[in-house]
Amino acid sequence: MGFRKDFVWGAATSAYQIEGGAGEDGKGMDIWDVFCKEPGRVYEGHSGDVACDHYHRYKEDVQIMKEMGLKAYRFSINWSRVLPDGTGKVNEKGINFYDRLVDELLGAGIEPYITLYHCELPYEIYKRGGWMNREIVEWFGEYAALVAERFSDRVTHFFTLNEPQCFIGLGFLNGAHAPGLKAPLRDTFTMAHHALMAHGRAVQQLRAHAKQPVEIGYAPTCGMAYPETDKKEDIEAARKSLFAIPDVSNWSWNVAWWSDPVIFGAYPEEGMELYGPWLPEIKDSDMELISQPIDIYGQNIYNGRCVRMGENGEPENVSRYEGFPKAANSWPVTPEALYWGPKFLYERYKKPFYITENGISCHDSVSLDGKVHDPSRIDFLERYLSALKSAASDGVDIRGYFQWSLMDNFEWNSGYSERFGLIYVDYQTQERIWKDSAYWYRDLIMKNGEKE
Ligand code: FCB
Repeated sequence: MGFRKDFVWGAATSAYQIEGGAGEDGKGMDIWDVFCKEPGRVYEGHSGDVACDHYHRYKEDVQIMKEMGLKAYRFSINWSRVLPDGTGKVNEKGINFYDRLVDELLGAGIEPYITLYHCELPYEIYKRGGWMNREIVEWFGEYAALVAERFSDRVTHFFTLNEPQCFIGLGFLNGAHAPGLKAPLRDTFTMAHHALMAHGRAVQQLRAHAKQPVEIGYAPTCGMAYPETDKKEDIEAARKSLFAIPDVSNWSWNVAWWSDPVIFGAYPEEGMELYGPWLPEIKDSDMELISQPIDIYGQNIYNGRCVRMGENGEPENVSRYEGFPKAANSWPVTPEALYWGPKFLYERYKKPFYITENGISCHDSVSLDGKVHDPSRIDFLERYLSALKSAASDGVDIRGYFQWSLMDNFEWNSGYSERFGLIYVDYQTQERIWKDSAYWYRDLIMKNGEKE
């Protein structure tokens, strides 16, 4: 067993992180355009104004993907590029960019997977209350309908929201990401509820306007949980911990709150009790909208925590040993997350599964030989993908894997200080250099994930 014959080997990016082309060809501002101009918000005042200049270099980038043998490419459309006001007037030049990108991908034999929302909230929508305004559900639906109208003749895979945990939690709870607010708890739950409804409305609109059958998914994230040993109690403890409801101060870092409603049409009971004092009114019809059937389940997984059954019969986190392996950004390296994460999530949600993001930030640089050697990334991928393969062999219906990221890019409030790419980007010259891991990934794809 192992990976399916038609396994979707891909890589992922997002619009603001790579495109550049800020304000070009009629693009409206998004909340990141505004946030990056705020002193002290982003590492050394970096912004995505130019980023990887993908807006102008997409042909070269697609060529790289083709040489890498990618079967699929997951990218996001910047809502404010196609609808500068978020609603109403369509920016044909913005549509045209994504048209050309899609055609280029198809011409290279690469399947486009479109994400509708990857943190690019149009500033005009923000000014009208953004996620606080219930009307955003319809505005997002209008945008989804436009995307289906214009692209579904050629594109059949769509993800609605990327990481609501982050765009609500980092954007409005701790303020590290745009728009950089610390909103009242009640507001954050209201925004989250609207985001989930917007997801549901987008599912409806994508289907209603699709020109052919499409597969629609969702791409949340979170830390995973994995058991310390293979003992039944530890496995049960890890499972319980993964779907547990965190304290309200950190509530958005949550699997069940964001995924149960989408799949089951109900918020988890435990959360309804714990968060009761801060919840908005929740109507049955809201839950019906949120739980519009989806076809595929995506999950971004970077790491997890080790859990065992405590003496008191409750799960407890196992502390990491001194010198535990970590990425350049200090995220722990825990390959187990790519075995247990998919397993627990698939057991619970029972949908064809994709890893929509997984990867590592390393201290990459160009060596004297002109190459970029990144053994830590290769080691990371080898370990994580072998875990994913075990999950596939154990019966998890894993359809695909999107490596984060195709190339180095603007890592949100860390600016360009983190390098997650398979391809190195020299931001002075915009030169792209294949890292060792890019060649490694190409070879792995050729062998469909088998070692030999
Ligand atoms: C995820 C984001 C993605 C990128 C990676 C490193 O949380 O979805 O845009 O920043 O982390």
